[in-house]
Amino acid sequence: MPRNDRPFQYRDNALACDGVPLSDIAAEFGTPLFVYSAGTIRRNFRRIAKAFAAARPLVAYSTKANTNGAILRLLAAEGAGFDIVSGGELDRVRRAGVGGDRIIFAGVGKTVAEMRQALKAGVLEFNLESAAEAERLNDVAASMKRIAPVAIRVNPDVDARTHKFISTGRKENKFGLWLEDAAQLAQRIRDLPNLRLEGLHAHIGSQILDAEPHRNAVAVLDEFINGLASEGIEVHTLNFGGGFGIAYEPGQKALDLKAVAREVVGLVKRHNLKLILEPGRSIVGPAGALLTRVEFIKPGHDRTFAVIDAAMTELIRPALYQAYHEILNVDRRRGKTALMDIVGPVCESADFLAQKREMIAPRPGDLLAALDAGAYGFVMASNYNSRPKPAEVLVDGGQAHLIRRRETARDLTKHEVVPEHLQ
Ligand code: LLP
Repeated sequence: MPRNDRPFQYRDNALACDGVPLSDIAAEFGTPLFVYSAGTIRRNFRRIAKAFAAARPLVAYSTKANTNGAILRLLAAEGAGFDIVSGGELDRVRRAGVGGDRIIFAGVGKTVAEMRQALKAGVLEFNLESAAEAERLNDVAASMKRIAPVAIRVNPDVDARTHKFISTGRKENKFGLWLEDAAQLAQRIRDLPNLRLEGLHAHIGSQILDAEPHRNAVAVLDEFINGLASEGIEVHTLNFGGGFGIAYEPGQKALDLKAVAREVVGLVKRHNLKLILEPGRSIVGPAGALLTRVEFIKPGHDRTFAVIDAAMTELIRPALYQAYHEILNVDRRRGKTALMDIVGPVCESADFLAQKREMIAPRPGDLLAALDAGAYGFVMASNYNSRPKPAEVLVDGGQAHLIRRRETARDLTKHEVVPEHLQ
């Protein structure tokens, strides 16, 4: 995203979201708090749709990146489709008013109950991840007297050059089927009366910054589709997944979408396929920030800790993937910089948002914003250390709207059951 398109920018040295000062938002809703820019989400969605416009794609937002119902509704109004991976996500998108014909169901472990739920909703495609899953889906569909539209997820064994935990298209990953196995499954589906083979699915990983792995995947798919055709098997759809990388670090460059689009559009045109995409992070990631307040400054051995009121419970990406999030002081009037560790109150050494980060030296009471937290932020939040989950706010049309209330201590225990003899 071009830098001047960014939702979080300084106005008179005070950081704002689409012009609304973050200090006002924090005063109204408290911290820690996720703040999202509706305008940025819309812009990112349109930018992706436009880059691939020559293929008239269904851009199926990858719900897992951020499942807040207000955001789902906003994207539904933009004409988005939705990629889901569980019955829970299906329920959320249905509640947001999305019709089954705009829903793609992915995931390696679909249960019988989830399959039933998705067949009932009339989803556009099930992405099959294994032969066993195909057999199960055929049985479930038969019991409901339905025909399930399916795509086979192909594992093209290309190196996505991203963090190993978010790479999915290699031999060692649990995702997709080997080309030979995928071809065999395509044959088998001909004999399964309650499945209808619609197409192929490939998603090689997340946060991919380089167009090359996508190009390699296109080449593999091209050959594979030709191979299927020579066996008399036709496909009509290609779901090219998501994984479009964003710029987290200053100086980093987001994936060149146009370069990828050229390759993918070429592929679908050659084979006359309907294109489906499943971007998550590239739509919501840059649109969100985690707003947090500094509690204490604690001098350490060779660094200084800023202890904040957010933690790995709100944003686990640094702990889990050594991920980088830019952290800005909401008030940048003071220019003196220092080397800081930004740490939370949770009892884990991995509880940090940044380590040895050169930044404007924060003081107790300062507000900080961890940027690019709109994707895989709140959705990966936990209640560890009995921390209630934070609130979420959407800035739309110059106004901050609460889209999820802050949890309370009561929320933490409400599902517990105390056996009578312990009462
Ligand atoms: N399609 C499939 C089949 C996926 O598995 C994923 C992400 C996506 C689409 C969307 O990928 P995106 O466009 O957002 O990169 N928690 C990790 C990311 C895990 C991604 C899982 N699958 C993180 O925080 O980086």
